[in-house]
Amino acid sequence: MNQPLRVCICTPELAPLAKTGGLADAAGGLTRALAAAGCDVRVALPAYRSIDRDALHAVSIGSAGVRLGPSWVEVELYEGRLPGTSIPVYLVSHEPSFNRPGLYGEHGADYPDNLRRFSVYGRGVLALLRRTAWHPDVVHCHDWQTALLPVWLRVEPAALPSETATVFTIHNLAYQGVFDADDLPLTGLGRDVFTPRGIEFWGRVNVLKGGLLFADLLTTVSRQYAAEIQTPEFGCGLDGVLRDRRDDLVAIQNGVDYTVWDPASDALIPARFTPGDLSGKAACKRHLQETHGIAIDPAVPLFGLVARLAEQKGVDLLGATADAIIGLDAQLVLLGSGDPRYETLFRTLHARYPARVAVALGFDEALAHRIVAGADAYLMPSRYEPSGLNQLYSLRYGTVPVARRTGGLADSIVDATPDALARDAATGFVFDAYTPDAFLGAVKRAVFAFLDAAAWRRLQQAGMRADFSWSTAAPHYLDAYRRAVARRAAAR
Ligand code: ADP
Ligand code: GLC
Repeated sequence: MNQPLRVCICTPELAPLAKTGGLADAAGGLTRALAAAGCDVRVALPAYRSIDRDALHAVSIGSAGVRLGPSWVEVELYEGRLPGTSIPVYLVSHEPSFNRPGLYGEHGADYPDNLRRFSVYGRGVLALLRRTAWHPDVVHCHDWQTALLPVWLRVEPAALPSETATVFTIHNLAYQGVFDADDLPLTGLGRDVFTPRGIEFWGRVNVLKGGLLFADLLTTVSRQYAAEIQTPEFGCGLDGVLRDRRDDLVAIQNGVDYTVWDPASDALIPARFTPGDLSGKAACKRHLQETHGIAIDPAVPLFGLVARLAEQKGVDLLGATADAIIGLDAQLVLLGSGDPRYETLFRTLHARYPARVAVALGFDEALAHRIVAGADAYLMPSRYEPSGLNQLYSLRYGTVPVARRTGGLADSIVDATPDALARDAATGFVFDAYTPDAFLGAVKRAVFAFLDAAAWRRLQQAGMRADFSWSTAAPHYLDAYRRAVARRAAAR
């Protein structure tokens, strides 16, 4: 009989425990979907300050000394359960590293010792897996913070049993964990790995590159992004590495956890609604206008945006077109935090149009839900977007996305061309060039479409019917795990 696959998910974020962006939602949704598919899945996270150990019923399973270059560090290991499930969660606790306000930094600046912090985490995971009686078939790592694990597993024979396969998922190639060469000893890796064919990158240590080179299999979060990152334009200096591994790179579109993001059951929004009865959505819009002090008017098109304020998200296109968008008699509700440049832009827009532009700075999960539910349309002019989840959430909430044709946005939104409209297949407004004019053109198409209530309703309903469940994605991950296990077996 087939044993269930044993998978250890190693991730720096997991919703609802620790989140700065979509990685948390993706890792959380994947974990639950794998468990539902019969997989023996467990998660290992850093014990951030924001994680309430009591809520996980976490208990200490002992301490371990981990090697950090020349020195040793003591970590405490905890085991609990993901709230509402029986999925085991392991926490690697090291107070100086993780008892801090932020996950990766504060006030828009990274913690300078992130290589050390995530080396402590990774070494802690290895210590933990050596200690438990549970031996994963696959260690599934997510983003640069976990990318040294596949390297250690291959170059340090004692790390874990050699049959342990590794899968590395790229959620965002732009964040690579690049550090000074002097920090190499922290990783415990020798100069033999610090070469152009290893983790050396323009004279520095590139942690992500280690994951890309050493994992048995790579995955990324949309088909379009998988193709894009093999080009110099989107490859962030690693496109050559990815082209070399193109046969080992699998594209799996992220799913949505509809137990969290569904307007029919969402407890965080003021009224619930379904494709058949959108009256609750009108109430959500009114509530949003009311609580944010912008004109209460159902006839005004309201555009929402919720984002990490990073260059990736195309916020400068919004800056360049905001006057013109407001000139179309539209409203904006914006939520974000991050790069101070964009926070200042948001504040300026609100100051200029207090009755038309509402702004909230910070991280606010409930407000994110209320914006996605209450807006008519959702802005996502990203420069690049590996998968994007907000457009998928918007679709589900009848909030029509206006997005750039890149990465997962290209794969998940059907542009409202005359042909797609005629087939009732259209779900949004898509533009190509990264220019203010192209973006404004798409916004104008949306505003124009909004004037025809019946046509707009059809767009909304097509989006709400689209299905991006994790149950579709999970079998593709199971295939990837089996491939990685087979490859490892063949390599031994
Ligand atoms: P990314 O992962 O690049 O940030 P995604 O679209 O995949 O982009 O996911 C973003 C997730 O983070 C969504 O769940 C979104 O609602 C959430 N999010 C981003 N910024 C904020 C914020 N300031 N407050 C609340 N939620 C936010
Ligand atoms: C990254 C990407 C985003 C993706 C998320 C989850 O943060 O920027 O596009 O949806 O990871 O995979």
